[in-house]
Amino acid sequence: MDLIYRIKENAKKYGKTIVLPEGTEERTLKAADIIIGEGIAKIVLIGDRQVIEKSAQNYLLSNIKNASIIDPKNHLKKDVYIDTMVELRKKKGLSREQAQTLLEDPLYLAAMMVKMGDADGEVAGADNATGDVLRPAFQIVKTKPGVSVVSGAFFMIVQDKSYGENGVMVFADCAVHPNPTAEELAEIAVETGKTTRAIGGFEPKIAMLSFSTKGSAKHEMVDKVVKATELAQKMAPDMKIDGELQTDAAIVPSIGAKKAKGSEIAGYANVLVFPTLETGNIAYKLVQRLGNAKAVGPVLQGMAAPINDLSRGCSVEDIVSLVAITCNQAAAM
Ligand code: ACO
Repeated sequence: MDLIYRIKENAKKYGKTIVLPEGTEERTLKAADIIIGEGIAKIVLIGDRQVIEKSAQNYLLSNIKNASIIDPKNHLKKDVYIDTMVELRKKKGLSREQAQTLLEDPLYLAAMMVKMGDADGEVAGADNATGDVLRPAFQIVKTKPGVSVVSGAFFMIVQDKSYGENGVMVFADCAVHPNPTAEELAEIAVETGKTTRAIGGFEPKIAMLSFSTKGSAKHEMVDKVVKATELAQKMAPDMKIDGELQTDAAIVPSIGAKKAKGSEIAGYANVLVFPTLETGNIAYKLVQRLGNAKAVGPVLQGMAAPINDLSRGCSVEDIVSLVAITCNQAAAM
């Protein structure tokens, strides 16, 4: 069954509430109309009610009347949210006035709604840069226990179904943490394994990528991946993880058999963990553009509640899919 179709069908069963802070943005409104119409999630839109209602009329979006609308400047929970924000950022010396100003920013308000359980998840980024979506999430929702870094995974649906899990591969980190330490890279690998199970519905075979396979090159960058592999194997003994592997050894069986004899992963990896954000981000875009793959994500992992970031070039369908993924993540938590 098609991955996205299955994710949407699952989302319909969960009945989750997702907040969309860019509530006046055209693609967001069109996506919200589809999501509500198909019963994928309940939707909260943040923005000026009059602007939202007028836009819905102009775009002929009949389901928007069933969304909740929150005006960031004036809503019932304003004082509770300000108090909570001051408490959460006490160590940073945040004043009440500063908290009030921050919470008039829809991105901060949405993160606070998720923190307070008034929404199960958030999707934003059609109109805002990644850093602006992530910062409020990091400051308010924070990482889940036992995880120190948030990272971003992409489900890459490639043309050749002999790769990965029937053509589906998971790449990480492609979106968040620029230069992870070995410890952080190990965490990213394990979280990506969990994302693969929760969203992809298949068992991860994780390759820790490098420019070296099993000691073929010596460099401190290789040492980091070797250490991360050992740590990840200890952190998740129930997951199949191997490294360090070059990409060809990870995904081509004949090369894996030659360069990494005896490895269960080499040649058959369905999860690729990149040593830095630079490599992960460049790789997923190359596979997407030159390999004509569909890139679904980034699915942010490691956060205490699901918040996901869109590319500003996203389509309406991308927003619908990411909302459905967010519902699946919320259910898995
Ligand atoms: N995981 C968890 N928490 C984090 C992380 C992380 N990876 N990075 C920063 N934080 C926390 C910090 O601990 C800090 O918390 P505190 O305020 O409670 O102490 C808070 O977030 C802010 O930290 P800063 O270091 O000030 O964060 P900054 O804003 O400088 O950077 C950011 C964080 C925005 C995520 C930065 O790492 C970044 O820009 N990453 C790249 C994002 C990007 O551009 N990706 C590529 C595009 S996406 C795409 O192509 C799909």
